[in-house]
Amino acid sequence: MDDIQNPFSPGAGAPPPELVGRDPVLDEARALLGRVKRKKSAQSMLLTGLRGVGKTVLLNEMERLAIKDGYKTIFIEAHESKPLGPLLAPHLWKLLFDLDRMAGIGNKVKRGLAVLQSFISGLRITVNEVTIGLDIDPERGSADSGDLEIDLPNLFVAIAEAAEDRKSPVAILIDEIQYLSQKELGALIMAMHKIQQRQLPLVLLGAGLPTLPALAGDSKSYSERLFSFPDIGALSESDAFRALKDPAQEEGVVFDLDALEEIFRLTKGYPYFLQEWGYQTWNHAKGSPINLQTVRNATDLVVKRLDKNFFRVRFDRLIPSEKTFLRQMAKLGSGPYKSGDIADLLKRSTSSTAPVRAKLMKKGMIYSPAHGELAFTVPLFDEFLARAIPEENLL
Ligand SMILES: Nc1ncnc2c1ncn2[C@@H]1O[C@H](COP(=O)(O)OP(=O)(O)O)[C@@H](O)[C@H]1O
Ligand SMILES: [Mg+2]
Repeated sequence: MDDIQNPFSPGAGAPPPELVGRDPVLDEARALLGRVKRKKSAQSMLLTGLRGVGKTVLLNEMERLAIKDGYKTIFIEAHESKPLGPLLAPHLWKLLFDLDRMAGIGNKVKRGLAVLQSFISGLRITVNEVTIGLDIDPERGSADSGDLEIDLPNLFVAIAEAAEDRKSPVAILIDEIQYLSQKELGALIMAMHKIQQRQLPLVLLGAGLPTLPALAGDSKSYSERLFSFPDIGALSESDAFRALKDPAQEEGVVFDLDALEEIFRLTKGYPYFLQEWGYQTWNHAKGSPINLQTVRNATDLVVKRLDKNFFRVRFDRLIPSEKTFLRQMAKLGSGPYKSGDIADLLKRSTSSTAPVRAKLMKKGMIYSPAHGELAFTVPLFDEFLARAIPEENLL
């Protein structure tokens, strides 16, 4: 069928034709935004889930909700190798200028800018790294101690006070939060703690891998009272059917029931995979209805593409010892896995495999769903390893 009409949208952060099955968490976000705007206490929200479940898409949707509700927003993506301060500063600068433009010159906004200027000087980076104008004098001593756990809370409070002054709440959205260092995460949590105590109109909406609640808890034990951690997962069978059926229907195309069932069996309801199967099945189909045989014909190609892109890019970034560790995990089925069982397969002691485990966690490949247990952060990764990575090649 005509691929120009193809409604499906596989790709990181690509908005799906229909955002299925996420009403509860979006309602939660709406309520949160409404409360923060009215300066009522509320837990900020950190979405957690495996890769490809739709966290980025949800964060984008939440940003839209916030803007609709009168918020000023900034959206950043944390990065393994970029510190948080320089990542945030230019966005906060722009935000303060936006607030400044709103009406006359507000003292609180001016102060916000002066505190931000102080924060930037505390980062001890060149101005080039943070591309902003510099015609505001820093408020010395307010956010330039060089200790992020002191400076970031002070900066957030100054910004939130400016927002309050302007009657324009602020939403800070951060994707891939698991990549923040422990110090950065700690500083962010402390900043939100201070904001919440003062009931200022600033909210944090974040997303990250399932490691996040544990990382936040390790960093600051009170984080579980400060944040809610909605778990974003695979779609139920009926939602998965809708994610395929509804967009096709819009184009006048239907799926046979057994075709839908086969796609659900293969994808287990994971949104990214649903979009991939939907997309390729559409392109393979001669016309409507899309039947089981078409799904079967498309599956080879989908799997090849997933192996080559979605799965392989993650695997290729690893060093041999890490690859071997994961390959052994995959031998134990779909997980979660006991660290001891993996060590047994590697003919090593559990403690001697700790460094490799830690590195794989840091790289966001695995996480620990419960004490002594491990799981992949990428859905169906065990199946990929089993079919695409011959064990002999790793030894
Ligand atoms: N609720 C949903 N229904 C159908 N498809 C979705 C849904 N949420 C996300 N997707 C699709 O899943 C893919 C991955 O989304 P993304 O937000 O990048 O996931 P994550 O950030 O969790 O890795 C995209 O192709 C997107 O279109
Ligand atoms: Mg994402």
